[in-house]
Amino acid sequence: MKKNIVLVGFMGTGKSTVGKQLSLKLGWEFVDTDQMIEQREKMSIPEIFSKKGENYFREVETIIIQKVMSNEKQVVATGGGSVLNLQNRSCMLSHGTVIHLDAEVEEIIKRVKSEKHRPLLQGNLKERVYEMMEKRKYAYEFADFVIDTNVIEVDSIVKQIYNLIILHKK
Ligand code: S3P
Repeated sequence: MKKNIVLVGFMGTGKSTVGKQLSLKLGWEFVDTDQMIEQREKMSIPEIFSKKGENYFREVETIIIQKVMSNEKQVVATGGGSVLNLQNRSCMLSHGTVIHLDAEVEEIIKRVKSEKHRPLLQGNLKERVYEMMEKRKYAYEFADFVIDTNVIEVDSIVKQIYNLIILHKK
């Protein structure tokens, strides 16, 4: 069995919600890389984007991913754009089982509609999500497994991942 479980996926696919529950079921630690970035920078993600820019955010994201992945027995929720960097993808794959939480564009829009904390989704939400999902449509294909989260409840997503990991000893 690999050392960590890494959840990847577009914004709003439930990485943090699923990750927290899964970590409880496994008795592993839950780590959210966005939260770690905020702690390190002592700023919220929107503040980092507006004060330091996206490139700076991406640099810190890579440092945090390297740091987190050197530990074991963690369920790691990653930021939706972290997979765009090859170094991040390699690091995730070599230190964990990578699981892509997938959802359709309209479902994502429904889920993120009421949330205001994502700098990349400011402006016309529908347009932004369609545009970004189109750009990133192959970005998550490197994952070891993909789970469709469109119609299933968090509980059964957690169970599916748990069975996958335990049964396949991945
Ligand atoms: C981003 C996703 C966010 C956060 C940042 C950038 C992205 O995380 O890292 O706003 O580029 O997709 P979530 O996927 O947890 O919303």
